[in-house]
Amino acid sequence: MMPLCPGASRTRPQPGVRIIMWKKSSKKTGRIPSGLYTETHCHLLPGVDDGVKDWEGTRRSLALARREKVRSLILTPHIRPEIYPNAPKGLEERFEEWRYEAGAGDLEVRLGCEAFFHHGLPDAWSRGDLLPLDDRSRYLLVELPSHYLPRGVSDVLYNLRLQGVEPVLAHPERLAFAQRDLGRLRKYAENETPFQVTTHSVTGALGAAAQKACLKILENGWGSVFASDAHAPDARPPMFREAVRFVSSRYGRKAARRLFIENPARLARGEGLLPVTCTPRKRRLFSRR
Ligand SMILES: [Fe+2]
Repeated sequence: MMPLCPGASRTRPQPGVRIIMWKKSSKKTGRIPSGLYTETHCHLLPGVDDGVKDWEGTRRSLALARREKVRSLILTPHIRPEIYPNAPKGLEERFEEWRYEAGAGDLEVRLGCEAFFHHGLPDAWSRGDLLPLDDRSRYLLVELPSHYLPRGVSDVLYNLRLQGVEPVLAHPERLAFAQRDLGRLRKYAENETPFQVTTHSVTGALGAAAQKACLKILENGWGSVFASDAHAPDARPPMFREAVRFVSSRYGRKAARRLFIENPARLARGEGLLPVTCTPRKRRLFSRR
């Protein structure tokens, strides 16, 4: 696994994610966690995929991430042989420039990837062609095609697990086939595959279908962790606080804390994820909200 801090040695243990404090927010928002979020999915390494185009885009995105109270990021450039044929060596070389160019300051940053699904993923993993999310090599972020569910997904996920890496499904709520029929994801959820949902989906910024699927995933108890999948400071910036407010007011602080703070930090440390129960709160009669 790449160093969390540029320049650190590969094997050096990395600092854990810092303690998160909860505090009162404004009257408007009620109590929300004011945390140090761990972003576990973003495309802020320029020139390697469809994320930020240049270092200026990186710097602007990181400034926004700081405003969102992000303190730790995992960069997850696409690895997709036909479109983004990134190899770990090239990504690591680009990441070397990070320390001079990104202006990351005290943000903790590591390099992972978002691996597009294909039947050769287990072989690619065993060859070292993919980058895990954590330095224990426990988690690999996997993206399925949007418009159809390929055959053999279960076998591929199973073979990855046999090799000791746990696939994490990226933004299942944004997959068109899942929006049509969420039941097609059931077997992966029942296999305890972690689902990583997108902050922009839950707020509705990515459309009603993504929001509806996201809420259903959460209420089914299938969601493990939120990430923003940031691509650019203008188009899809790092965003947490609005999503935290939304989830907190709909499902309560405990669920929000687990989805936005505890599980992302555990993912980054290569630890087991905690189950999350999302039950919509009942509205009080005569309440102001
Ligand atoms: Fe992504």
